[in-house]
Order: sequence, then C-alpha cells, then structure tokens
Amino acid sequence: MAIKAAGRGAIPPFYVMDVMLRAGRRQRTHGDVLHLEVGQPSTAAPAKVIAAARAALAGDVLGYTDAYGLMALRERISDHYAAEYGVSADPRRIAVTTGSSGAFILSFLAAFEAGDRVVCATPGYPAYRNILQALGVEVVIVESGPETNYQPTPALLDAVEGSLDGLIVASPSNPAGTMIDGKDLDALADYCRKRGMRLISDEIYHGITYAAPAETALSYDETCIVVNSFSKYFSMTGWRLGWMVVPEDLLRSVECLAQNLFISPPTLSQLACVAAFDSRDELDANVARYAENRKLLLRELPKAGFDKLASADGAFYIYADVSGMTTGMTTDSLALCGQILDQTGVAITPGVDFDPRRGNRFVRFSFSGSTEDMAQAAERLIAWRKS
Ligand SMILES: Cc1ncc(COP(=O)(O)O)c(C=O)c1O
Repeated sequence: MAIKAAGRGAIPPFYVMDVMLRAGRRQRTHGDVLHLEVGQPSTAAPAKVIAAARAALAGDVLGYTDAYGLMALRERISDHYAAEYGVSADPRRIAVTTGSSGAFILSFLAAFEAGDRVVCATPGYPAYRNILQALGVEVVIVESGPETNYQPTPALLDAVEGSLDGLIVASPSNPAGTMIDGKDLDALADYCRKRGMRLISDEIYHGITYAAPAETALSYDETCIVVNSFSKYFSMTGWRLGWMVVPEDLLRSVECLAQNLFISPPTLSQLACVAAFDSRDELDANVARYAENRKLLLRELPKAGFDKLASADGAFYIYADVSGMTTGMTTDSLALCGQILDQTGVAITPGVDFDPRRGNRFVRFSFSGSTEDMAQAAERLIAWRKS
C-alpha cells in the first residue's frame, strides 16, 4: 500500500535557487560571475561579535537557554527600541528566535487558525505566503504597484472581498526596497485594529535606509507582532538569529510553541549577539557602501534599458519592471535572467518568486556586494544592451 505524504510541502520552490545553480555552473566554466542575485550581505559579522563568539566557545558549555532566549540579549534588544525609536518594548515581550524565519513560524502559528484569511502584498518575500499555505492559512494576495510605492494601503485592503484575519507588511520591503512612512503605518495599524486583524510587521531591513529612517509598527500598535533579525543590517545571516516583539495576549502561546518547536534559539549566536549593538560604526560603514552601490546602479541601470525602477529607499534591492524592454527580449523574466547570465556573467533574480502573477515582468538587482562589482555589472549590462 502506498505510504501517504502530506500535501503541506507542496509549496512553490525558490526560483532564485535555479539562478544560483546556473551562476555556479557559469562560474566553473567562465570564472566571471558577478553576484547581484544574492539576498544577503557580502560582509562578515562585526568583529566584536566574532570575538564574543570565540570567548563563548572557549568558556561556555553552550547548553539550551530559555525558549525566549537569554535575558541579557533581550534587554539589549529592548534598549535598542528605546534608543532607536523612542518606544518601550519590555524585555518580557521579546522572544529571540532562529532568524526571522523562526519568528514567522511562531507568529503565524500563534496568531492564525487553519482556514483564516491573511493578506500578503505582492511583490513580497515569498516565504510569508508559502509558510502560511503550509499551515493551511488562506493567503489573500493584494497586488501593489508603483502607484502605492509597491506597498499595501487601506484602499487596496478595502477592495478585498470577505473578512480578513491578518496582514503582513515589510518596510523596507524585499524585493522593491520601498518603505511605509509613519502616517501610512499608523493608518494600516488602525485599519487592522478596527477589524480585528493581526498586523505582522517584518522589520528585517531596518537600519538599511537611504532617506528617512524606518518606523517600527510598535510605535502605532501594541497588538501587532514585530519581527526583526540579525541577518541583514547586522550582517549575520548564517548565525540564524532574529527576534520578535510579542503582544501581551500571545506571550504564553508563543512561549509554549517555541519550547516545543525549537527548545531555544542557538546559544552561541545569542551570546555573540549581545555585542552586536556595540558595533554600529562597522555596520554603518556597510550601509554607506550600500548607499554608494545604490546610487551607482540607479544612475547606470537606465542606460542598460532598466528604466522603470522602484524607489529603493531601503534594503539592498532594486526592482525593475522589464515589460517595456524589447529588441528580442522576452517578458519571461526567468528566461531574461538566464539570457543575461549567459551573455554577461551578471546574475540577477527573476520577479517570479516575489509575485506569482506579474513577476514574469520584473527582475531584482541586489547591491549588497562590492562597489567594484556593481560598477563592472553596470558596464557589462550597458555593453550587452548595445550589442
Ligand atoms: C523580507 C525578508 N524577511 C525575512 C527574511 C528571512 O531572514 P532570516 O530568517 O535570515 O532572518 C528575508 C531573507 O532574505 C527577507 O528578505
């Protein structure tokens, strides 16, 4: 008799992995790949964090911690909210998690029942949709475009039929790098509160902004769940540490879920991360490089025909509408990315991961690499466009 397999894993793959595979092949045959497809910093963790990790390895047994994490780290995170945003986040409400990815699993399990209806805006980070789907939550897609700065608005939510149970927002966002200002965040929080919808705010790209600093949803709503991570601004993707600010009504359920699902977040990373908040100079130097890369690409990409670009006010991404690009090019962005990789060695990401319906018209450039790589990539793309 056939053994049953659950349908939960039948969620979409990450197409960017295919691009990375192709980029790896190209590197082996040509040795010339410029990586503008990767969604992570190209730098190491801050020196103080690495030193703290070495000391912990030498002197600590590295056992489990509380499910919510080490109090010393939770206090540092709480101080960060006071210093950065002028908002109070009691350490009791801070749960350290296995990356923001761990925080999403805990948030979605604690906030939503199977069959609930939760809004995810597209273009957006695909894991929100895919984790919700795996948990049996109905994903309601709201399509946003340049008219709303690629972000959801109360008007877009109003156009959705039927009742809603939650909304996921990200500011700055991936892939568009666009932000929601305080007034609009307040309006979205208010919209959710009045309708009994749980707001989940992904703030993983906070600290990487180019005009105004990012606003936390915590300033506007005590009932929302705020998710953040050491992966991006803190340059620590592989350390797998993030955090969430948990609303009072979910404190115990998140704790029980965390105990059973993870026991505790990685202890070595927690001990090291206590030093992360003392590393601002090093981390801000990374942001200064991203800012330079951004300026360069926003200036040069239009010369290569990529002239419909999202505002890229934060994160390290530029999202380009390639539907108007003609001359033998296609509106199949997966094929376009393959063609660009084969002909130039520049690896970029097709929009299909971020927007199931319209992503075939978009590509994403990541500028987290070196400025030299960005300049070379722009040169090659301009030459390719002319050829
Ligand atoms: C918007 C967004 N949220 C969350 C994540 C997950 O990050 P992590 O689990 O490393 O914290 C990513 C990773 O690229 C992302 O772009």
